[in-house]
Order: sequence, then structure tokens, then C-alpha cells
Amino acid sequence: NNMQENAVILSNTEIAKDIWRMEIKTNLAKKARPGQFIEISVPGFYLRRPISICEIKDESLIIIYKILGQGTEKMTELTSNDLLDIFGPLGNGFPIEDQDKVLLVGGGVGVPPLYETAKQYRLKGSKVDVVLGFNDEESVFYKEEFEQLGCNVEIATMDGSVGTKGTVLDAIQAKNIDTDFISACGPLMMLKALDATYTKGYISLEARMACGLGACMGCVVKDKEGNSLRVCKDGPVFEVGKVAL
Ligand code: FES
Repeated sequence: NNMQENAVILSNTEIAKDIWRMEIKTNLAKKARPGQFIEISVPGFYLRRPISICEIKDESLIIIYKILGQGTEKMTELTSNDLLDIFGPLGNGFPIEDQDKVLLVGGGVGVPPLYETAKQYRLKGSKVDVVLGFNDEESVFYKEEFEQLGCNVEIATMDGSVGTKGTVLDAIQAKNIDTDFISACGPLMMLKALDATYTKGYISLEARMACGLGACMGCVVKDKEGNSLRVCKDGPVFEVGKVAL
């Protein structure tokens, strides 16, 4: 029961270097769950683009996207009251479990889906540690937003310009974060390292998706038994330890 809709853009602004935040008024907000994504049709481009959902409000969704090419560049030209052809919500999302403590780990454009995840865990009363990794200071976004939810937020940057110098795992170690249940989204190398370190929780894979519906097999990964999994349909969220990364 996915829906296509012409959503109304409420705002579209740059929040960090090449990182944009867009709020769209849409009925899809009623069905969406944290960690799911929508497929966006950018005017003038044939293929829809998968963009993860950052926040779910009563009547709107917030998405955060990075300028990666002509399509996403074109998205930055859209303004309030423009229409955006969207389809979704897609994928399985992060389960929100009964956990006293959760550790949310995000890298770069993997950060946005963790925001709604954090919000829902905070609503359940869980203690939430958030560790966000970026390349440098000008790439950092949403630190204050996570703090406003009541999360403990730590930052890692590769160049050391903010927070711990190094990877998210370096920050977790430096700050003595011992929470053992994770939900994570970010680049493959980061997920690989987390998957080797933790045994409980979930990771969300980024994959080039074409159809987003489980039909084209363009997004297939293997589990550890060698079975094929479609990131778009069977994921993008998988249990820690399941996927051969
Ligand atoms: Fe087509 Fe996943 S993108 S099957």
C-alpha cells in the first residue's frame, strides 16, 4: 500500500555544506516509520531517487539530502509551494524495541533516519546516546536537534575539527559509551566496523536503488548463508550480523 503523491514543499534550505533539509506536506506522513525512505521524482530526470525520512510529523515529512549530482542539485532550486512527486513509504525501517539504553550511530547522509528513531525512543523513555561522524566541521548537521530530544550527542570528524578526531568507533571508545544495542546508518566501512563490534541491534544499508520496489534486483546483497537480500524491499534495515558486508 505505497502511495504516489504530489507533495507540497513547505521549505527547502541548506543546513550544512551541500546538505539540504526539505519539509513536505504529505499524506504519506500518516504511514511512515523511522528508517523508511521515499522515492522522489526530480523534474527533468527519469529515475526516481531514494531519500531517507528524517522526521515524521502529523501532516508532513522532513527529508535531508546531499548534493551528489545534477538531480539533487536540481532539487535545491525547488521552493515553498512547489510540488514534489513522491512515492512511498518504502522499506522496513528501524524497529523501536523496549530498550533501556540505545546507541544510535550515523555517518554523513546516514544521520537523518536516526533522528525520527531517536525521537521515538525518547518518547518511550529510553536513554539515547547518539554518535555522529562527519568529514569536517562544515559538514556537521543536526547536533543540536538531537540534543533537544534529550539525547547525549558525541561528534567524530575525520580531520578533528569538531569532537573526537577519527571514526565513530573512535568517539565511542573515547567517550566510554558502553551501550550495547545499536541502530546505525552510514557508509559501508562504518557499518562493517560496527557489525564486527556489536551483536545486538540494527544497521541500515545504503544501496543504489532503481525501482525501490523489489523488482529489478539492482540492490541485492548477500546474507552470511549466501542468500540474496534486496536492500530496498527486505531492508534497508537488517539485524546486526545478518548481512555479509
Ligand atoms: Fe529494484 Fe531493489 S531497487 S529490487
